[in-house]
Amino acid sequence: MFDSNSFHYTGNTLSCEEVSLQELAGRYGTPLFVTSAKSLTESYLAFEHAFATLPHFTCYSVKANFNLSVIRTLAELGCGCDVNSGGELFRALKAGVKPEKIVFAGVGKKPEEIAYALESGVLMLKAESVSELRAIDRIAGELGRNATVAIRINPNVTAETHPYITTGDSKEKFGIDEAELEEVFELFGTLGNITLKGLDMHIGSQIFDTGFYVEATMKLLDIFNSAKDLGFCIEYLDIGGGFPVTYDPKKQATPIEHFAQKLIPLLAPAGVTVIFEPGRYLAANASVLLTRILYRKRNHTGKEFFVVDAAMTELIRPALYHSHHEILSVTRHDSTIRADVVGPVCESSDFFARHRELDAAEEGELFAVMSAGAYGAVMSSNYNGRLRPAEVLVSGSEAKLVRRRDTYDQLIQNEVF
Ligand code: LLP
Repeated sequence: MFDSNSFHYTGNTLSCEEVSLQELAGRYGTPLFVTSAKSLTESYLAFEHAFATLPHFTCYSVKANFNLSVIRTLAELGCGCDVNSGGELFRALKAGVKPEKIVFAGVGKKPEEIAYALESGVLMLKAESVSELRAIDRIAGELGRNATVAIRINPNVTAETHPYITTGDSKEKFGIDEAELEEVFELFGTLGNITLKGLDMHIGSQIFDTGFYVEATMKLLDIFNSAKDLGFCIEYLDIGGGFPVTYDPKKQATPIEHFAQKLIPLLAPAGVTVIFEPGRYLAANASVLLTRILYRKRNHTGKEFFVVDAAMTELIRPALYHSHHEILSVTRHDSTIRADVVGPVCESSDFFARHRELDAAEEGELFAVMSAGAYGAVMSSNYNGRLRPAEVLVSGSEAKLVRRRDTYDQLIQNEVF
């Protein structure tokens, strides 16, 4: 169910690859993110296999999970990176990704971030406005460089997903409108320090319907043809990320092959390198959030709660998007109970599941919140004075601590007091 067999029961205990989650919780404490290197690898290979016949280059969108070891695992397979800030660029470079395999995105890049990207020698910067193109040109000039840029198009396609993660619609802040493109193309004639080599889009995240990609790609291809007619030599078409994963077994994600079947025939004739930026597809099902049941309680209406030691501060997706995450008991039970799974944070939105049928686990036992690898740890916070959790990477029978848990001292280390 969850991306092959990386998380499975061995007897009655849930394991990650060959390591028992029970053992990991004992060794590293909870809450704990546990990531399977095998799952990351298999997802990447599945993606590459689907698009094998298309000249392309896959840039993992590190915003999904920017742990250095996660980035490195994918980079070692040949994957590049899509970064959205100076901080993500720093991480990708630290993880050993070559700058020429990095694309730099972002609707509001600061001058120092533009300079950092140019000095690092990234493959290209994706510009999202006329003002930004001017800024890139100015900074490149100051540095005595020429900047390779792509322009991010807003294709005005409203992909069906949670409204907070649809990005290709004209009412959103992202990209450059078709109506502005004439001005943009003219600008390249007047700015001497930038070269247009790519066209880019990203229509949103967790998109099930291939039709939205087809619609937006056709628009991108129209623009590609206009750019060619104007004499631009476009080498890259970047169609972004957004490919879906299964969070809820009752809502199976569209297989990646379906996207490939629709997109390859459209894109191949362009004769360019296609860039993909999957984040969730590679990372989501590679990790679980392991949490211990602190208390069970039942209120006067008979409603049952599992109060666990993880919270919205570690995985905000249910609170923010009402997203579904499966919850498995690390030790299997024969009986079930309908309950809410809630964290210790003082917000009613601090829940992982509501009114869910779950194994009747006891206090002190462990739950695994599944599919927590994308937009989990990266969106964590210290709200309520909570310590960001530890992270472990499993490969076969080996488990390595890849992020230590925050300490109390770290909570105040930047304060001037
Ligand atoms: N490229 C760009 C320019 C993006 O903005 C994003 C995601 C991606 C690629 C990767 O998209 P993916 O393949 O992961 O769908 N926090 C939300 C998701 C926000 C996505 C932001 N942009 C969530 O937890 O669902």
